[in-house]
Amino acid sequence: MNAVVELLIDGQPVRAPAGASLLVALEQLGLALTASPGGSPRGAFCAMGVCQECRVRVDGRRGVLACLTEVREGMRVERRP
Ligand code: FES
Repeated sequence: MNAVVELLIDGQPVRAPAGASLLVALEQLGLALTASPGGSPRGAFCAMGVCQECRVRVDGRRGVLACLTEVREGMRVERRP
């Protein structure tokens, strides 16, 4: 069983299993990916690094693919590309 860690999503503290896919963690927390830069809703499509629809910001870095990123303690996630 994975350890549970705390991270920030859009500034809110949440807990998720360490090493889980960030995309899966967001879905399990009921947090959909939010809007594209134009404001339209986005959703993950491929979950394997191809479609780029799961882009978020992690620790200030833009364009991080949530489906290929593991949850780790203290990471700061923003649900926008
Ligand atoms: S869901 Fe397609 S690249 Fe992440």
